[in-house]
Amino acid sequence: LFGFKTNKVSGYFKPIQHSKEDQLLLPKGFKYDVVAAYGDVINAAGDTFGFNNDYTAYFPLNGKNSDKGLLWVNHEYTNPIWVEGQPGSGGYTKEQLHKLLYNQGGSIIEVYRSQDGTWKLDKRSQYARRITGLTPFELTGPAKGSKAVGGVSKVQGTFANCSGGITLWNTVLSCEENFESTAEAAGLNQTHYGWVIEVDPFHAEWQVRKHTALGRFHHENSAMGLAKDGRIVVYMGDDEKDACVYKYISKGKFDAAKEKANSALLEEGTLYAANMKKGAWIALTIEAVQKALSAQGFKAPALISKTVEKLKAQFQTQADVLVYANEAALILGATPTDRPEDVEISPFDNTIFIAHTNNDNHGNIHGHITRFFEQDDDLGALEFDFEIFAAGGRQSGFSAPDNLSFDSNGNLWTVTDISGSSINKGVHAHFGNNGLYVIPTIGPNAGEAMQFASAPLDAELTGPFFTPDETTLFLSVQHPGEQTKDIKAPTSMWPHRPGDSMPRPAVVAITGFKL
Ligand code: FEO
Ligand code: CA
Ligand code: CA
Ligand code: CA
Repeated sequence: LFGFKTNKVSGYFKPIQHSKEDQLLLPKGFKYDVVAAYGDVINAAGDTFGFNNDYTAYFPLNGKNSDKGLLWVNHEYTNPIWVEGQPGSGGYTKEQLHKLLYNQGGSIIEVYRSQDGTWKLDKRSQYARRITGLTPFELTGPAKGSKAVGGVSKVQGTFANCSGGITLWNTVLSCEENFESTAEAAGLNQTHYGWVIEVDPFHAEWQVRKHTALGRFHHENSAMGLAKDGRIVVYMGDDEKDACVYKYISKGKFDAAKEKANSALLEEGTLYAANMKKGAWIALTIEAVQKALSAQGFKAPALISKTVEKLKAQFQTQADVLVYANEAALILGATPTDRPEDVEISPFDNTIFIAHTNNDNHGNIHGHITRFFEQDDDLGALEFDFEIFAAGGRQSGFSAPDNLSFDSNGNLWTVTDISGSSINKGVHAHFGNNGLYVIPTIGPNAGEAMQFASAPLDAELTGPFFTPDETTLFLSVQHPGEQTKDIKAPTSMWPHRPGDSMPRPAVVAITGFKL
């Protein structure tokens, strides 16, 4: 038995084995309730739960309530076979486009633990609502109204919402990742997407916004903490092969008494990218980019397919640096890495864990988890050291680490995302379906992965998030049956609802944790 409550104790589980079953498997003593699945009605207005749920964040109602709260859920993308249908020769119809945009973004749902211990969705909730690819957003920060975004300060909708994070003032950040195809299909300006958005789950009247100061790239998630001097620090991954790790440091300092007004801290600050050879955080400023581009003998990094002349024309203002942050980072010498997905700050020692999921450009097939040590354990430091904390592969037992989440005992809950076309094939066959692993970061088992859950066929598990008392773990089951080619022969039927004819991405509540 493996104790995941290593210092406060008492929950134990026997790790499960890799599996190829079309089920969400858990260790003995644990069970799950499906709280919301694609298409479920979430409120009296008849809004429905979107597709491909990813990040989840639990917000207690009334203080630290672990039995009743709001759940923010990201919806990352749609699958035409199950949602909008394939576009015809003339592209999508109006109705198809509506489905494509409506089923991405996020859901706010109200959930509660009923008398019999089952978690349920409250469809009468006054809070439940949708944020979609159609919801009006406001831009904040240096790129708002800039030439680079077409001179606008308001944009349409959010989509490709992968992972996210919570703020110190009880709002949620959601990250726009692979936005290109939806923006293109809907005829929308690409520079309006690829941002970190902020939503207040409790107040529908609070304007939803996109914070341009945090840069535009393929945002996976955001992990917020405080520098020793009280400034806000946000760590972020750019999920692309050969992309960089970022952090943002606010200009002003956090003041708890200001509550949501602290959101302004995400509008003015400095965006940095990591140079792992020097162990230095490099400030992405227009002055530095222009100086680098003008230097004698400067050559555009091989990863940027633009000429120096084109880059010089592109980078005119700080807004341009933020809109093309990934190019600015490479120009300034930040280190290309193997698809940085989730980033989490250890609540124990302020070290930074980064899931580098994999990168077949360099033969990194199973990925690894990198750990940054900031100088003096200060999140505001501009120097760091690092180690490979855990490597994917047969020895550790996991492949393709993705979302990360800490429990209060220093265990890193890590889900895996072996791509649908690779699951149970070739060198991935060993691992079975995707899973959820518990990796202690402190104590005698540090770095050892124990499997806690196994996903249904073709699915990845995403967004693990505990209630404050850690008796419930919310988890997203994303894209079960994704490899389906014929709608009459789905490759998965999870969650196996009686009478259903398709697999459904769904959020589950896992219970059985004992205090
Ligand atoms: Fe949407 Fe990087 O996973
Ligand atoms: Ca995904
Ligand atoms: Ca992900
Ligand atoms: Ca992934």
